[in-house]
Amino acid sequence: MRVAILISGSGSNMVTLARSMTGDHPARPCLVLSNRPDAGGLARAADLGLPTAVVDHRAYPDRAAFEAALQEALLPAAPDLLALAGFMRILTPGFTGAWSGRMLNIHPSLLPKYPGLDTHARAIEAGDAEAGCSVHEVTADLDAGPILGQARVPVLPDDSAETLAARVLEQEHRLYPAVLRRVAAGDRSRLDLPPVLQID
Ligand code: GRF
Repeated sequence: MRVAILISGSGSNMVTLARSMTGDHPARPCLVLSNRPDAGGLARAADLGLPTAVVDHRAYPDRAAFEAALQEALLPAAPDLLALAGFMRILTPGFTGAWSGRMLNIHPSLLPKYPGLDTHARAIEAGDAEAGCSVHEVTADLDAGPILGQARVPVLPDDSAETLAARVLEQEHRLYPAVLRRVAAGDRSRLDLPPVLQID
């Protein structure tokens, strides 16, 4: 299975996904694509020897034109699956429909709680005892597709959005590769990772 990874930023999830697809793993990364030319993940992808592409959303008049350019950049790599990893553009139903069932995303909350942005600040504000991350299939509704896996962390009394984000990110790096491996093996059952002992 060929996997294209879409990023907008540092690409830490992209790195862990790309590094996981080795040996007897049924998938291989075929492209790292960013909507931002300055994404730090592009250099990290190049360091891993991965093909990269940039489709700068600011260069297009509207979402449809941007997504047409996305398609054009993706097709030569012939991906079977798209893995959004810190990709911060909202996709139209036209694009999510074209990749229905073949596009995953990692979201830094325990969906269906806190779709959208600022998930950690919202969890702290709500006084939640735990937070976490979710891998889901991407559908037309933002952060609302079938959940393929979750990982949970405690919210500590003195947590800031930053300290909680760092704790959740560690779990993202465990969860996403584990879910991708199952999906690449044809298994779409839900994976809820057991909590690890938090030694902060
Ligand atoms: C992560 O928290 C991810 O959940 C969110 O973007 C953040 C940065 O991810 N979508 P990365 O380091 O660019 O993979």
